[in-house]
Amino acid sequence: MLVASNRGPVSYEVLENGSLHAKRGGGGLVSGLSAIGPDTDAVWVCAALGDGDREAVRRTGGGLLPTEETGGQRVRMLDIDAAVFADAYNGIANSVLWFVHHMLYQTPLEPVFDAEFRRQWASYEAYNRAFAEALAEEAADGAAVLIQDYHLALAPRMLRRLRPDLRIGHFSHTPWAPPDYFRLLPDDIAAELLTGILGADRAAFLTRRWADAFTDCCHAVLGPGIPSGTRIGVHGLGADADFLRERAHRPDVTERMAVLRAEIGEGRRTIVRVDRTELSKNIVRGLLAYRQLLDDHPEWRERVVHLAFAYPSRQDLAVYRDYTAEVQRVAQEINSHYGTPGWTPVVLHVKDDFARSLAAYRLADVALVNPIRDGMNLVAKEVPVVSDEGCALVLSREAGAYEELGEDAIVVNPYDIGGTADALHAALGWAGGERAERSKRLAAAATALPPAQWFLDQLGALGR
Ligand code: G6P
Repeated sequence: MLVASNRGPVSYEVLENGSLHAKRGGGGLVSGLSAIGPDTDAVWVCAALGDGDREAVRRTGGGLLPTEETGGQRVRMLDIDAAVFADAYNGIANSVLWFVHHMLYQTPLEPVFDAEFRRQWASYEAYNRAFAEALAEEAADGAAVLIQDYHLALAPRMLRRLRPDLRIGHFSHTPWAPPDYFRLLPDDIAAELLTGILGADRAAFLTRRWADAFTDCCHAVLGPGIPSGTRIGVHGLGADADFLRERAHRPDVTERMAVLRAEIGEGRRTIVRVDRTELSKNIVRGLLAYRQLLDDHPEWRERVVHLAFAYPSRQDLAVYRDYTAEVQRVAQEINSHYGTPGWTPVVLHVKDDFARSLAAYRLADVALVNPIRDGMNLVAKEVPVVSDEGCALVLSREAGAYEELGEDAIVVNPYDIGGTADALHAALGWAGGERAERSKRLAAAATALPPAQWFLDQLGALGR
């Protein structure tokens, strides 16, 4: 069995003394794969993402990484030419495909399909080919291969041509754009992306909505639609309750809770959000909604604090950097306008600190999850599982998680700042009993398909 994804389960950093430090990543794929057991022969193929990763690949001569550094996982990292990687990852995957599937283009952020785009597209093809070739090399006869996400939309078809014996699955972790939006891509590119994924035996998505959009795009772009050889599946990845609850009660988390409690102040409610610094997450509108809450309901001033934590993401791209700066500017503006000597209305941290996020989850009275569009959004699922007292969830109807959590959340249109302010007001006002009840139901729905089962379901559906 093989897994392929751009980001692998481990990343390396070169320390000052020249040695390499391996850091293991989290996320659904990592915990899903670990469920298969320690003596699995599964190989994970991923890209080298930075200098540390490239150095690790050089030191192992391009073979499997030492398993003591990968948490037991057999990992093959591909040292793809740095310029090709940058074009494929920054240029095509995170500037074009991410924007299409999350429907993020709006003036002056317009799609540009010029000669530079075509050059980057050639790199995206080369990047996908590198994965297909490595997978073809590593796979035993009839092996199952699970290819992940929009970085690797072409790889299934390429691999199918190299190795017709394999059973290939593709999984999209993002939304899929509806045809009217998807077709802003040049026709040949739109067709290649679809036929690339249709090279798999099975194309799977996080929700029925994204799966249907994919099918609709196939009909609109390719005419005949889904070929009989490809099945469409849905697997709604859930939160890993056991891992989260155990991790959230370790000392580093309780230490951070004490720090946060001091930052929040005695007796105040907390609204928590945790995202990557990324446009689809809609952090700015969330802050504007919070500001409107303080305007419309001055009774909440001094009585609530908004913890907004953001992990820096894709900062090589100006559009993500500018967005991060805008988030910081708006938070700062709210604090200087409304703050008092004893009260900081927004506590914004732009840093990668999982323990602090878990500490915030535990303290949350309200979780704010308002993405413009999101494949699933695991934060919406994680906070109810971890929060000490149960939390209210304000949830965008455009997040995949809405399909499973919509009934017990307060649902918002992510563009509607006033509506989101109203939702925050309602959520803050929920009585303890109702909040605890709903939070319990949210946690149950959020953990219905834990990562291990999510992973095994996909394998099973491929016929293994
Ligand atoms: C989304 C994508 C993942 C990706 C993650 C982080 O969840 O679906 O494939 O790994 O974002 O983005 P990054 O660019 O840092 O890998």
